[in-house]
Amino acid sequence: MDPKEAHKRIEFLRRELIRHNKAYYLFDNPEITDAEYDRMMRELQELEKDFPELDQPDSPSRKVGSEPLSGLGEVRHSSPMLSLDNAMSASEFHDFDERIRKQLGVTEFVDYIVEPKLDGLAVELIYSDNVFSLGSTRGDGVTGENITSNLLTLNKIPQELLRAGKRVPEKLEVRGEVFLPLEEFRNLNNKRLEAGERIFANPRNAAAGSLRQLDPKITAERHLSIFCYGVSEMGLSLFKTHAEVLACLQEWGLPVNPERKLCGNINEVIDYFNVMQSRRDTLPYEIDGMVVKVNNLKFWDILGQTSRSPRYAIACKFPPRQESTRLLDIIVQVGRTGVLTPVAELEPVQVSGVTVSRATLHNEDEVRKKDIRIGDKVVIQRAGDVIPEVVIPIESMRTGRERPFIMPEICPVCKSRVVRIEGESAVRCINPECRAQIEERIRYFASRPAMDIEGLGSGLISQLIARGFVKDVSDLYYLTIENLQTLERMGEKSARKVLVNVEKSKKNPLDRFITAIGIPLVGAQTARTLVEQFNTLDRLKNASMDELMETNGVGKAVASSIRSFFTNQSTLNLIHRLLNVGVKPLEGNTPASSGSMSRETVLFTGKLVSMTRDQARKIVEDNGGQVVSAWSNNVTLLIIGENPGSKLEKARAAGTRIIKEDEFVKFSDVSAQ
Ligand code: IVH
Repeated sequence: MDPKEAHKRIEFLRRELIRHNKAYYLFDNPEITDAEYDRMMRELQELEKDFPELDQPDSPSRKVGSEPLSGLGEVRHSSPMLSLDNAMSASEFHDFDERIRKQLGVTEFVDYIVEPKLDGLAVELIYSDNVFSLGSTRGDGVTGENITSNLLTLNKIPQELLRAGKRVPEKLEVRGEVFLPLEEFRNLNNKRLEAGERIFANPRNAAAGSLRQLDPKITAERHLSIFCYGVSEMGLSLFKTHAEVLACLQEWGLPVNPERKLCGNINEVIDYFNVMQSRRDTLPYEIDGMVVKVNNLKFWDILGQTSRSPRYAIACKFPPRQESTRLLDIIVQVGRTGVLTPVAELEPVQVSGVTVSRATLHNEDEVRKKDIRIGDKVVIQRAGDVIPEVVIPIESMRTGRERPFIMPEICPVCKSRVVRIEGESAVRCINPECRAQIEERIRYFASRPAMDIEGLGSGLISQLIARGFVKDVSDLYYLTIENLQTLERMGEKSARKVLVNVEKSKKNPLDRFITAIGIPLVGAQTARTLVEQFNTLDRLKNASMDELMETNGVGKAVASSIRSFFTNQSTLNLIHRLLNVGVKPLEGNTPASSGSMSRETVLFTGKLVSMTRDQARKIVEDNGGQVVSAWSNNVTLLIIGENPGSKLEKARAAGTRIIKEDEFVKFSDVSAQ
């Protein structure tokens, strides 16, 4: 890029970043996702490095946050509250470690403390003579807002410190992150949606919006929480290591995140980073990465800081779950139970390594309540195994040309009139002959959590229906090699494979069969508990409401859905037809249906040291899992041995759960019992 172009781009990025800083920090109403913000900041930092003559002291790359919101009083921090630089990949973690060791002039390993990076907002709590006296936000790093009365409503913050361990200094400045636990976040958004209020895109925005309130009563209703992660510069002289700081804060009664870990070198840091990434979905709060800090405080002084961030720490980010994109259109899909689901067609966007061009909008009510319009810029989210969803529209980006969505009154596939069932938010096509429903029922029947018929994908199913070979799931078992060979792109070898897999499915465990027949409200997990309780299909079929409700996790709605399914003549006929063609589900609790790895698709990479690959495969299979040999997005668990290969990068990019061999070995102990 030539200097003139660079100048223009730098100016643009600075202007945009200042604007986004305001939207984010000042109004808790960002227009772009964190990931987009991080990318713009990185681009600016790199351009400023390449063109040092264009550097400016007031560039947003040198600053933290935004100035305080008027209305709350101001608090000047005794030492600046800085931000952190980001590392995005294993090679950047190593760069960080190398830079530190070079600057310190050490050849041996450096100890690091690794802590979850909570996604909330930074605060400072000042304790004078042991008593909580002043609380503030980070603000622009130098001056924050006085939020003492709001922080007093957090029951995790002690009003007085315990007199335990080390003596508390007369004035103690503690720093930490206020956040909204996920459960509270969901409750809050549900309430706001019902009340017709704007919902928050993520827990961070909700936490910020809840804390920066002029009325502390509102803060109190939100049930915010906090973890403390350090003290300001003036408190550091009391300690030798960061681990000691954290232990001491805890002794004084302040909440400190228990998920922290002391690591002896950067490889241990990376390992722990991977472990936490795989646990990300199981934590009760949102984390967007891990913070790595040099443990020895003597080194902090030597390393120093820039105007924006200290050099002793770095934020290692997980792949972002949210991105924003344009909602191009809303189409309507018909599911296997006839429910019409509005689906967003999006300008394709990469979310944690996967291109997303469609996302669910759940139902008509949700589209209306969230006021999502065709043409909107929207926030989309892809978390864990969950299908991508549209979170909210970015209202501040509207042009006035956006169009509201209207649910069709006829089924988009079979053209019969749709109905809205009383008390349900769903609109349904009630024509049992509707082609979309037939197709979806068969697709669901053959899917991995159900009968798991490999090779029988959506494309093949629609061809089979179009040719009239299949009208319901029982017809799959009458398919012949001749039928299949007449289809597009179907050679004899693949046709035979499909037939073998169809045949194999006849002997599936009962819970797969129960999942596959599609009882409304009964998914794979409920099917498993039902089999544990009733053992045979006949017993389940004849179970009374009361008996059903004795099953773990089965309430009135699920029980009555099961009862009406097994008293409906057409579903009974279907089961009869399936049994007649030779489907004979394995009854009782088979290992494959109840194992600790059931439903896992497992891939190994690297050399295993404690067993052979064959032994490992057996353990997975005995515990109900399935082993595959190549990477695909279906893999749910990657097990890594020594020197893992490229599969590791792929799994990381896809956010797949990754465990090491020693963790996996625990399964072999389980299976030996
Ligand atoms: S240490 C000099 N530790 O991340 C800044 N920060 O981008 C030292 N954060 O402003 C911060 N969890 O709001 C630290 N365990 C943790 C953290 C954490 C979340 C936030 C904090 C900070 C931002 C940096």
